[in-house]
Amino acid sequence: MIDRWHFRMINDKKRNLAYFLALQKAFNQNYVNLLDIGSGTGLLSLFAAKIGYGNVYTCECCEVMCDIQKQVIQSHNALCHLVELSSTDISIPKHIPQRVNLVVTEIFDCSLIGEGCLPTLIHAHENLIINENSKVIPQSADVFGVCIECEELRKHAKYSLDDHKIVFIGSHDNMEEDQQYYSSEYMSTIKGGYKEITKSFKIQNFDFDNKQNLLEAVGTNVPINVTVKQSGRIDAIIIYFHLKLDDSITIKTHPESKTCWEQAIYTNYDSKSYEMGDVVNIESTCHEDHFSFKLHSAGVCNDMTASNEYVDFTIFNINRQIVARMNDAMYLNEYCQCMLQEISKKKMQKEVLSICFLQTDVSLLPAIVADNGSDKLYFIEPSAVLLKFLLKYQANLAHRITVLQRPIVEALSECSVTFDLVIGELINPNGLLSDHMVEDLTVIKCLCCNENTVFIPQQIEIHAMLISCDELRYENEVCDNSDVTLGFNVASFINEYKVSTVTDINILNKKYDILTKPFACGTLDLMKILHTDKDADELNLWEENVDVTILENNKVTAVIYWYHIHLYDEQQINTAPSEKSHWKTSSCLFSTDIDVVVDQMLQIKVTRNKNNLHFQVT
Ligand SMILES: C[S@@+](CC[C@H](N)C(=O)[O-])C[C@H]1O[C@@H](n2cnc3c(N)ncnc32)[C@H](O)[C@@H]1O
Repeated sequence: MIDRWHFRMINDKKRNLAYFLALQKAFNQNYVNLLDIGSGTGLLSLFAAKIGYGNVYTCECCEVMCDIQKQVIQSHNALCHLVELSSTDISIPKHIPQRVNLVVTEIFDCSLIGEGCLPTLIHAHENLIINENSKVIPQSADVFGVCIECEELRKHAKYSLDDHKIVFIGSHDNMEEDQQYYSSEYMSTIKGGYKEITKSFKIQNFDFDNKQNLLEAVGTNVPINVTVKQSGRIDAIIIYFHLKLDDSITIKTHPESKTCWEQAIYTNYDSKSYEMGDVVNIESTCHEDHFSFKLHSAGVCNDMTASNEYVDFTIFNINRQIVARMNDAMYLNEYCQCMLQEISKKKMQKEVLSICFLQTDVSLLPAIVADNGSDKLYFIEPSAVLLKFLLKYQANLAHRITVLQRPIVEALSECSVTFDLVIGELINPNGLLSDHMVEDLTVIKCLCCNENTVFIPQQIEIHAMLISCDELRYENEVCDNSDVTLGFNVASFINEYKVSTVTDINILNKKYDILTKPFACGTLDLMKILHTDKDADELNLWEENVDVTILENNKVTAVIYWYHIHLYDEQQINTAPSEKSHWKTSSCLFSTDIDVVVDQMLQIKVTRNKNNLHFQVT
């Protein structure tokens, strides 16, 4: 598996061309002795070889990328020598014969420094580059920020239970406890949009040709004064950069410029309102691989790290998408109504109910149920955070909780319980059915349920639609015409690593054509009583053929799918793409586009194996 951004990056023709032109100019200025640091597929090294650099040295630290690069270089017969190491482990002359006078590198993430360009280039200046008359492409970069208001980001930032002194903080992928890092989005297409509260401001300049400048940058605190240009809350600082490859070639990653780089988002967990004309003093600190920020305004310091703000609280750093789910009031209300209605019904016959929760992720549902009686709560391998949260929420809950370990067949046979209620949040915020859910459900239904057991939800219907969407394809594979890579064939090698199931898509921010009406393609019936082994098998594995009619002449790229969750009686939740939903969408990307004409009938074979859905045009 390789990260999805590799595809988007290789498809960024403007980026590729900028590097090609900068390499060509450097060659004409006699910088001929070249090392490509972090060479990935080897594309920049191929450019150099084509331009005429003699021996091109390249280094790459990721094993999978090295495997791809070896095939790419061989297929182009290029004079490139790959060192399969991090540049910081290269020694001379063991790995490369001598110091170089030109380094080309593209190890920049959306915050510029997150992939370690500062320590990498400091090391290169000290160990790999000759001291005089040498050059780095890019030569420098300016990093900019802007304070924004954005409801969507706020929903992902935090959820607090003030009475219990508990706060959930939406952590970023790369955030460790007590550290404030960032996530990334294309802000120009974020759900609900965003508003700039301040003008853009410069955060830092890096001179990549100058080791001293890079050494001094790490650890610098920069005070920045910005005036609020329109009233609103500061939910985040987003950052972008200008990457100057040389004096005349610059790549800009501003929200309005379409590049492979998203914008880095630094969440402000304490998003206060500001009035037009207020002055915000931002203290920015440049660390080795990230920035951090403090906001000072009207004598108040707002350290943008959540841990500082919630001194008396227990802080749980959890996936930011789960935080967005907690903030989805409508969703929570629907679940609560159903759960509490059924619990009160059952309480007429039985005092203490046995209630099983199917999810392992943190959730507010068990806490709500716990508040409502003295029932026994069962969990299947709950995450440590979920348990810690519940015990913090109600200290005396421990004796009411039973944790079942997998394989649950054994655990359930031992405790011989019959569940009155089985509850689950079964669709992950990324648009997939949750892991293990179907297997667990089958065992539970066989061993611990009777005709009175109620499941919430009762049914999950899967709905889908065929679409045409170039953007989806090119975020997940390299264009097969080599135009984007300036004539070099990288696609056939890197595309070996493409996958067909793509999740976590914000489809509404892409251009796509709808090619069929939405069609139902299978139901997972949780209430169904399992009489035979075949009934049990059907829960796990099923296949369905659906006929669909094409609405226009076009090409089919993918199927997107979503769910109708029948909670209880008439109550339904729909995870279809919508501005309000906290769910993202999943899709099955066909390996090649399929040409279709209006009114054409297609048969779609839908297979579900446990939580995996696969679609095929037959
Ligand atoms: C953003 S990609 C760019 C790939 C390629 N240069 C291009 O432009 O298409 C960066 C690559 O650099 C690698 N990398 C990052 N730092 C490195 C280092 N210090 N030494 C070797 N490889 C590094 C990563 O594994 C990743 O494959």
